[in-house]
Order: sequence, then C-alpha cells, then structure tokens
Amino acid sequence: MHKLVVIPGDGIGREVVPVAVEVLEKLLPDLQIVEAEAGWSCFQRGGNAVPEATYQAIRDCSAGIFGAVSSPTGQRVPGYRSAILQLRQGLKLNTSLRPVRSWPGVSPRPGVDLMILRENSEGLYSGREHWESEGVAIAERVISRVACEALARCALDVAKARKARRITLVHKANVLPVTCGLFRDTCREVLEGEGWAAELDERLVDLAALQLVEQPEAFDLIVTSNLFGDILSDLACHWSGGLGLAPSLNWGNGIALAEPVHGSAPDITGSGRANPIAAILSMALLLRYHWQKPALAIRLEAAVENFLREEGKADFGFETTRVVGQGILAVL
Ligand code: NAI
Ligand code: MG
Repeated sequence: MHKLVVIPGDGIGREVVPVAVEVLEKLLPDLQIVEAEAGWSCFQRGGNAVPEATYQAIRDCSAGIFGAVSSPTGQRVPGYRSAILQLRQGLKLNTSLRPVRSWPGVSPRPGVDLMILRENSEGLYSGREHWESEGVAIAERVISRVACEALARCALDVAKARKARRITLVHKANVLPVTCGLFRDTCREVLEGEGWAAELDERLVDLAALQLVEQPEAFDLIVTSNLFGDILSDLACHWSGGLGLAPSLNWGNGIALAEPVHGSAPDITGSGRANPIAAILSMALLLRYHWQKPALAIRLEAAVENFLREEGKADFGFETTRVVGQGILAVL
C-alpha cells in the first residue's frame, strides 16, 4: 500500500496537483491519499504556514506532493516563513533532485539530460537574517559537514540509478574558502571514499552558469549548495521547455516530497494556463527514487514524451491544465 500526503498549497499548486494525483492513481491503484495543508493561505486562515498535523501526516506516510507556496516579497510578515522552506528544514529533506532533459516539441534543443542535486536544508536559506545596525543587513550562510555528507551520499545513489558518467561539484571556494571549501572537501571525501570511480570534476558557479547556457550537454550530475542550486535549476530548466516542465523531489531522512520547481504563478492562477507536467514528472521522481519503482517511472515519463511528440507543444492557452492532463492520462 502506497500512502501520499497531498498539499496543494497556493495559486497554481491547487490546479496542477489534482492532475498529478489523478495520473499517479492510474499507475498505483492501491494509492491512499491523505490531504494536508500548508502555505500562505493556510497561514492567513490559521496563523501557521505549516500546521503540526501536516508534519505528522508526512512523517506517517513518508511521501507527499507539495504544489507551490506564495510568499509576500519585500515585506516581512511577523510569524510567516515560506512553508516549503520550513518543510525542507523541519523534515531534514536534505537534497533536492532537479532533472533537466529535452522533450519533443517543447525543448529549445535536443540532447540535454542532466540532473542538479541541490543541498536543500541550509546554506543561505537557513533563515539567519538580521539587522546589524541601521542600514546594514546580514544573512548567514550555514554549511555543515553532516548536510554535505548526506548530499554526497545521495549523489552516489542518484549517480547509480542514472548510470552517470560524471559528477560536477559546483561552488565558489575561491571567494568563500571556508564554507564552499568545507562543501567541496566533504563531498570529495565521501564520493572518493565510497568508491566513485568515474569522473569527478569541479566548476566555479559563475562559469557553470555560462556553460549551462553554452553547452548543457557537457553536464551529467551537478552537486551544489542551496542558493546556487536554486538559481542554476531555473536557468537549466530552460532546456526542458521552462518552469512548466521542471520537476523536483525533496528527499532525505527516509521521506520524499515531490514538488514542481515553479512557484504559485499568481499571473496565471485561475486562467487554466498552468502546465501540470512539472507536477506529473515530480511523481515519476517519487516512483523511481523513493518507492523504487523504476518501471512505473519510465512508463510515466514515456507517456509524457508520447503526448508531447504527438501534440508538438504543451501550451493550449486557457485549456492547458485540462488538455495536457487528460492527454497524458489517455496515453498512459
Ligand atoms: P513562478 O514560478 O510562480 O512563476 C514564474 C513564471 O513562470 C510566471 O510567468 C508563471 O506564469 C510561469 N509559470 C510557472 N509555472 C508555470 C506552469 N506550471 N505553467 C505555465 N507557466 C508557469 O515564480 P515567481 O513569479 O517568481 O513567484 C511567484 C510566487 O511563487 C512568489 O510568491 C514566490 O515566493 C513563490 N515561489 C514559490 C516556490 C515554491 O513553492 N517552491 C518557488 C518559487 C517561487
Ligand atoms: Mg526556485
């Protein structure tokens, strides 16, 4: 029996998550759904962006899907912190898996197939921000050996599953020798110590960004820290066809939370334009890596590929969510 906590969240999260759940139910007829809430609207209703019941449900089921969350930008709302950041940190979902590959009809070029592994629980997103004095604001970047070790061990598992030829560590250790130095040295120690025999190389993050634009085919498995992974994964998903096709899996501590990379997209919420493929492909990551059902993951990705090949696009205007969802269900 597979149990899945379903957290639609805010904005288009509420539109794409039901489609992804319907697709997963077709693949796993024994799927048991547990509904839970989190996000900005949840905070506005009850004063808590992630109620304790939501943490408990995810711990009990060990798997979930999270749609997206809205965060008020530029202003500080007392007591509010992004729900997804709280979940990643609170549940120790150490690693975010963010694959980027070419799809027929929607990708700007063929032949791209890479994965970004992003440290997911610390770095510059640790929530340690304060005013040092009038006009001077400080953010602390936390890098711990424990989190880097967990990330590197996850990289080995993913490399095995992907049959990766190369792992590229992305950092900025020339400017941040203490934090990025610890990141790089710890990842190297784990990967070399656990017998990573294929190629292990490194890039400074600025050059990695340029090369992801110039020659994305050169990358296989990228391992990086939280902020760098956040930025590089949005950049790289251009090669898939954009945020509507970018899936992710928050993973660690025996728990997996599938999550489309995109946010709540207030500009298109309620219009029917949200592409559900990012959420659907996030379910494939859950199947492959957490539930160890690679054959079902392959079947799901093949259905997406066949749909896109037949239709030659993923944008159906105001009918996108419905047409894409129904189309993928039909070829599954
Ligand atoms: P966004 O990802 O929500 O939207 C960026 C652009 O991509 C928009 O033009 C949007 O219409 C488009 N887009 C995104 N997903 C799409 C989809 N599935 N189909 C078609 N088009 C899609 O990022 P933005 O605008 O920077 O942030 C909006 C809100 O989302 C903010 O409150 C932000 O804090 C939050 N956010 C939440 C994330 C999360 O829950 N993990 C991640 C990123 C942003
Ligand atoms: Mg992001």
